Amino acid sequence: MSSAAPPPASRNPADRRTFVRTTLDLGDVLLRPWGREAAEPDTTPDGHTMLDGLIAAATDPLIALWNPLATADRRDALAWLESRDGGWDRGAGASFAALTAAEGVLLGSVTLRWVDRADGLAMIGYWTVPTARGRGVATRATRGVTSWAFRTAGARRIEIAHAVGNEASCRVAHRCGYLPEGTLRDSHRFGDGAYHDEHLHARLASDPEPTGPAGEPSA
Ligand SMILES: CC(C)(COP(=O)(O)OP(=O)(O)OC[C@H]1O[C@@H](n2cnc3c(N)ncnc32)[C@H](O)[C@@H]1OP(=O)(O)O)[C@@H](O)C(=O)NCCC(=O)NCCS
Repeated sequence: MSSAAPPPASRNPADRRTFVRTTLDLGDVLLRPWGREAAEPDTTPDGHTMLDGLIAAATDPLIALWNPLATADRRDALAWLESRDGGWDRGAGASFAALTAAEGVLLGSVTLRWVDRADGLAMIGYWTVPTARGRGVATRATRGVTSWAFRTAGARRIEIAHAVGNEASCRVAHRCGYLPEGTLRDSHRFGDGAYHDEHLHARLASDPEPTGPAGEPSA
């Protein structure tokens, strides 16, 4: 009895489900892969490194509440960078620093990770430093990373979950074309140590690209 030869591996969409280190150019903002090189001293004109920005970000009360970062000191921040490198190395996580293109100043971060890699299901999260907020940085960066993941990594569905009380994150999700799908009850423990209900939003690869301004201050 003859059996059909299995299809070549390259025909399997799951084989494409790898995040490949890439810098995404949004014009005045660059999305650069987080990794050990963020500790190198040449990243900004005033001598601050991305690592310094990462340590400072961890102290922001909103980040500490809604997206706690285990980067409170240099040792922890270096470990965090190493884990981002590991994610990239395995193609399992895509973590980008958002930087000003001109100066390399840290504005924020967007991170994608597979929830079910074989199934093309990923989750995305973001934060911006206080001085960068309200200018559309989170929206533009999340839109950029979302399009890249659909286009190059075989993502089929990407989810955002945010605490119900985190209205700014809800706006970012809407602005990025992530449709609301319901409320998850007591689903995640946040930086205050309490479980909060979360809104689940998701975008499918087949959904339209979002249009409209990316949160620039209105006149
Ligand atoms: C949520 C966060 C990433 C937004 O970053 P940002 O760069 O200011 O976002 P943008 O400028 O792209 O868009 C902000 C949107 O939120 C709205 N917004 C900002 N602050 C808000 C607030 N306190 N309440 C309600 N809406 C708010 C803005 O009006 C804008 O919506 P609009 O375009 O409809 O007007 C930022 O506030 C942050 O880092 N928060 C702490 C960490 C966090 O919450 N991460 C997300 C976890 S799910």
